[in-house]
Amino acid sequence: MQSKRDKLLSFLKESRGIWVSGEWLSGKLAVTRAAINKHVHHLKKLGYPIETSTKKGYCLGESPDLLVAEEIREGLHTRVFGVRDILSLDETDSTNLRAKDLAAGGAPEGTVVVAGKQTEGRGRKGRSWFSPPGGGVYISLVLRPPLAPSEAPRITLMTGVAATEALVSLTALDARIKWPNDILVRGKKIAGILTEISTEIDRIDYIVVGVGLNVNIPRENLAEALRERATSILIETGESFSRVRLIQAFLRYFETYYKILQDEGFEPIRNRWKELSDIIGQRVSVEMIGTVRTGRVVDIDPDGVLILEDDQRSIQRIASGDVTLL
Ligand code: BTN
Repeated sequence: MQSKRDKLLSFLKESRGIWVSGEWLSGKLAVTRAAINKHVHHLKKLGYPIETSTKKGYCLGESPDLLVAEEIREGLHTRVFGVRDILSLDETDSTNLRAKDLAAGGAPEGTVVVAGKQTEGRGRKGRSWFSPPGGGVYISLVLRPPLAPSEAPRITLMTGVAATEALVSLTALDARIKWPNDILVRGKKIAGILTEISTEIDRIDYIVVGVGLNVNIPRENLAEALRERATSILIETGESFSRVRLIQAFLRYFETYYKILQDEGFEPIRNRWKELSDIIGQRVSVEMIGTVRTGRVVDIDPDGVLILEDDQRSIQRIASGDVTLL
């Protein structure tokens, strides 16, 4: 059910740019004028540009891409992800760290953490994730899937599919997935996924899956060392995109594929992953701890493991590593 504050916001949005009297609002919402004032004060604190006048009432201006729970929820129409708990932070160390804290404290599946900026954005293998303010989508989800711990890589691959679909649906970019968790455009990384898991002996307690997507980062804001390897939607399209719309699209695709995973198993997701990946049949080198193997990618197996025919013609099963297309 919409709260009074959400209803107030809806009324102001319906009349964006037009003054709405406090008296009319208090009649519509069946609350006092003082309560209207209090809600408006809170909305202003969230960043909504609302002008107030004792004579004319309230007027909402343009509020582009405001990363707040109310905006993300509006028109989202999911059933689990982002329905109940969305923690939206202007700035945090890492949305994965925040989501893990919430999950350890019992937060339900579907909990979402987003931030405008991360001071300690984390990537795989202890790397950092460049997270400038307003430049990207930094989002983490809490999952409690009925999977065995060994099946957790399915969630990473599924998230790659959902994030790629969301990106392509809004930007029409030719995005590809590189095993296990990179999303590339023209061979440069535009998004990454960090999956963290807490297990009991034979079951998953929770998974936190985090996605970082470079959205409105101009090339000159990428560190020199990143320019050859990384890109953003702005760099690729020349346009700025709404982080809120991207988050909504991602949550919708994520929920769709998560349901498919539960109802039909991993096979449909694995097939879609293969369609979106440009790795099957390619010659690659895979860097693992202490060793590098080169060969041709034969397949991704039902556990998300990379099957490589190496240069000595023997088949290798690789659960984790860094792939370079040769
Ligand atoms: C990688 O490619 O190495 C994974 C990058 C994952 C980055 C995201 S941003 C949101 C979430 N919070 C983090 O600290 N990391 C993930």
